[in-house]
Amino acid sequence: MKVKRFGVSLDEQILTELDHFVDMRKFPNRSQAIRYLISNYLIEEKIDENKIVAGCIVLVYDHHKRDLQTKSTAIQHDFHETILSVMHVHIDHHNCLETIAVMGKSDRLRELADKLIAIKGVKHGKLVITTTD
Ligand code: NI
Repeated sequence: MKVKRFGVSLDEQILTELDHFVDMRKFPNRSQAIRYLISNYLIEEKIDENKIVAGCIVLVYDHHKRDLQTKSTAIQHDFHETILSVMHVHIDHHNCLETIAVMGKSDRLRELADKLIAIKGVKHGKLVITTTD
């Protein structure tokens, strides 16, 4: 593949964070790190919303938060046709880690993930969609 060079202007702050990322992840240089970030982002962006894809929703939440689990269960039942399996791990006294394996149209999976992540008490959530293309 032909490699082209182009200039990028960045805030000092973002550049410092990028260099930190390069160090942490042991990239040989900034170009390699930027290439990784862009392609990772584009994989998720270019997925056709009607395509059937598989993926995973990861949630971390405090199970003491009122109604959280009731809401989560209700949402999951509304999307039951997309959910393959759910793994629940009690990380510590307060926190739970839930990993939900999903398969279906990518826009439907995104809708499910957005609803779950938006529940009050969810500290962190992420949808990972994979593709075989
Ligand atoms: Ni738990």
